[in-house]
Amino acid sequence: MTTTRELRSMAGEEPITMLTAYDAPTAEVVDEAGIDVILVGDSMGNAVMGYESTLPVTVADVQRRTESVVRATEDALVVADMPFLSFGVDEADSIENAGTMLKEAGADAVKLESGPHTVELTRRLTELGIPVMAHLGLTPQHVNQLGGYTRQGTEQDAAEEIIEGAKAHADAGAFSLVLEHVPANLAGAVTEAIDVPTIGIGAGPDTDGQVLVITDVLGLDDWSPPFSRQFGDVRSEMEKAVADYRDAVEDGSFPAAEHSHVEESLDDLY
Ligand code: KIV
Repeated sequence: MTTTRELRSMAGEEPITMLTAYDAPTAEVVDEAGIDVILVGDSMGNAVMGYESTLPVTVADVQRRTESVVRATEDALVVADMPFLSFGVDEADSIENAGTMLKEAGADAVKLESGPHTVELTRRLTELGIPVMAHLGLTPQHVNQLGGYTRQGTEQDAAEEIIEGAKAHADAGAFSLVLEHVPANLAGAVTEAIDVPTIGIGAGPDTDGQVLVITDVLGLDDWSPPFSRQFGDVRSEMEKAVADYRDAVEDGSFPAAEHSHVEESLDDLY
């Protein structure tokens, strides 16, 4: 069972692997492959719920999907993502929502899309025993302010702000930090500046670990971000299986005798 403490000790020693999962069978595959961290990301909004963004995802959505992932996971650390406006508005509500992910859903930690407004909350949650993974750089919940899913930290001021933000969250007790869609040299500088593990997505090779969205890795979607890599072609496999099923029903080859049971003791029924 991976713990937040173990994860911290991996920083700079061995690469940390993290993937998202939103359901039990996928979580089982990810866990059995030895991936260190499973993130029940609010990317579920785009990846599997058919939304245009992550904004409509609710606490209940993440809670139920985290429950499924936890039931299927034996070793990986399970991190539940806090959805848009479920934190940062009111401290008591933020604590209750984060607590729900541990108490009800069984997650080991929560992730917050971070900024200056989450430093104190990170400290408070950590004090209360809720481990926090911070997230800086591109924070998709701010898409309406950022004007798109664009690379962050490309200007000196913005890059320095990210380094300062990383230090502030590490000092506040965050056990790790996701860096999304930032220049590789900035991610490297952040990794050097803090002693908790950095986990990059679109942030180059110089972080302590890497994370990708599972549907991108599997090739389930027809679009994935340029910094991602498709390691499989599950969509083609699905298309083939579904078309084969349709054909078999239409040509009468399914169900065959081995898929059916005739109860001989029944009188003629038709
Ligand atoms: O929601 C998510 O999947 C994420 C990762 C991209 C880090 O936040």
